[in-house]
Amino acid sequence: MRIDIITCLPQLLDSFFAASILKRAQDKGIVTVQTHDLRDYTPHKHRQVDDYQFGGGAGMVLMIEPIANCIHALQKERTYDEIIYVTPDGERFSQKTANRLSLQQNLIILCGHYKGVDERVREHFITKEISIGDYVLSGGELAASVISDAVIRLIPGVLSDETSALTDSFQDDMLAPPVYTRPADYEGWKVPDILLSGHEAKINDWRMDQALERTRQRRPDLL
Ligand code: ADE
Repeated sequence: MRIDIITCLPQLLDSFFAASILKRAQDKGIVTVQTHDLRDYTPHKHRQVDDYQFGGGAGMVLMIEPIANCIHALQKERTYDEIIYVTPDGERFSQKTANRLSLQQNLIILCGHYKGVDERVREHFITKEISIGDYVLSGGELAASVISDAVIRLIPGVLSDETSALTDSFQDDMLAPPVYTRPADYEGWKVPDILLSGHEAKINDWRMDQALERTRQRRPDLL
């Protein structure tokens, strides 16, 4: 998979992708994440990428030319399955969307800033608009990072234990059961006996019961 992220703040993203599972996935050649500085594509003086909105009103708007130039340059290299714009008025991001996106080959994610992007970008280039929640961030970079992380960890070979993505919360519309590790007894706070019993079938039943109970209590809307 390849993810191209278009942004005014590539330095925000570069550190995120240079660590942990995301770095390992890139080192293994499973995924390529490339950031693109919008300012490198602007035809305007002083690397300008935004301007005042027509009709007046507070806030700057990202102009169409640098975005169009960047997308056209990328499309010359390969075809893209989705061109995603991250925006608070997009479709709410979910595990289902992450699962679907993890099956794609090439994605572009466009990060907005200020008041957003010229509407013509959304009409003519964007194939999918995603929000990561009902709150407004100062830019799309965190949203692009969240989406990329959720998608990349689902690609086979990225997680060392491949079953662990399947037992995540939200796969099967359920929250994950509690987990424990050593010590089995911390100052009298004990790990449930069943997990130390060695009975695989009983442990699986216990985990299923716990997952159901946790979902019923915390997220009954999922059931
Ligand atoms: N950009 C600003 N806020 C956002 C949000 N909640 N989701 C996606 N992109 C955003």
